[in-house]
Amino acid sequence: MRVVVVAGARPNFIKVAPIVAELRSKDHETYLVHTGQHYDARMSQAFFDELDLPRPSHYLRVGSGSHAQQTARAMAAFEPVLADVRPDWVVVVGDVNSTLACALVVAKLKEPLGCRLAHVEAGLRSGDWTMPEEVNRVLTDRVSDLLLSPSSDALSNLLQEGISRKVVFAGNVMIDTLLAKLPAAREAGVARRLGFQRGEFALVTVHRPPNVDDPEALSCLLDGLATLGRAIPVVFPIHPRTRDRITRFRFDARLESLHVLEPLGYIDMLSLLDDAGVVLTDSGGIQEETTVLGVPCLTLRERTERPVTIEQGTNRLVQWPLSTPGIMDAVAAARSRGRVAVGERSPHGWDGRAAQRIVDAMERYVPADSLLSEPTVVR
Ligand code: UD1
Repeated sequence: MRVVVVAGARPNFIKVAPIVAELRSKDHETYLVHTGQHYDARMSQAFFDELDLPRPSHYLRVGSGSHAQQTARAMAAFEPVLADVRPDWVVVVGDVNSTLACALVVAKLKEPLGCRLAHVEAGLRSGDWTMPEEVNRVLTDRVSDLLLSPSSDALSNLLQEGISRKVVFAGNVMIDTLLAKLPAAREAGVARRLGFQRGEFALVTVHRPPNVDDPEALSCLLDGLATLGRAIPVVFPIHPRTRDRITRFRFDARLESLHVLEPLGYIDMLSLLDDAGVVLTDSGGIQEETTVLGVPCLTLRERTERPVTIEQGTNRLVQWPLSTPGIMDAVAAARSRGRVAVGERSPHGWDGRAAQRIVDAMERYVPADSLLSEPTVVR
């Protein structure tokens, strides 16, 4: 097969790494397209180096901008790549603007080029249409030929929506990377190097617009974190979006009781996640990673598109809207629950073999319209 794999933003790099490796190990002609949505060395190149990703065959320089600008630039730049490479498959992952942009380009060139679209991480739903990621997920699923779902709830969402193209249960490809890199992360011992003991610190990440773009919401959140930081050490690697808003709203003084870091590479972040006593985050991927690591996670959002991390995993939603008492109560409860062993709470298919199942599903693909009955669901 000739396959184009698209990656644009930090969480994408972690998901495509095992897929690219699997495709190459089976001698499929593989092209890695980097849209350039994330471009800082810390948000991009660091991940290529650590995850053994090959140099992209195409770099599209999309950069920052409004959603429309980012999406439109990615579409315009991806179209000639597709026409030039003429792949059998395009693989898009996750829910970022680059994912939807490239999916739309494939949807419109599918017929003349004879190319198919696979969406990895299909079927996740928050039900919150104000989230750009929700729009990206739902629309990407609608135009994909092969829907690769990471969890049983995602599979059910697709069936409930009546999506009749081929749905395959693939499991969680982000966990392939986690399990492969955990030994290196443990060796890195980042917490120890920073002077923190395993289980005795909180790790925080925030970057979602509802938490950081509104000064009042960000102020409430930083107050809660500052109070927490006076009780236990709080390590806070700051996303560029969050750093920008803190500076713009003149909130820098509120970081005083926190251990602020620059955005971290994959191995260093995994090392801290593995050693944390509790993790507070609004990231989707970190809800999944903590579930597998067995570390209590508190999600700083009103709802999650990853309910399996709450039902089966270690994740809990913090009382919404966020407040200092809400955060402090949730941390106390999480710390009394404590940690469990790696893998003890892993949902079905979060086992390090998702990339194999994804490539296998592409190799065996039969178009839905040539099947007698639909939907075809492979569990
Ligand atoms: C994007 C994704 C989100 C994902 C997140 C992970 C969408 C809609 N959102 O959000 O789903 O969880 O990435 O990080 O696609 N910036 C830099 N350097 C970079 C990249 C961005 O400084 O390398 C700055 C930009 O100037 C911008 C801000 O960070 O101000 C946000 O970047 P953007 O890509 O628009 O969205 P994210 O918030 O990162």
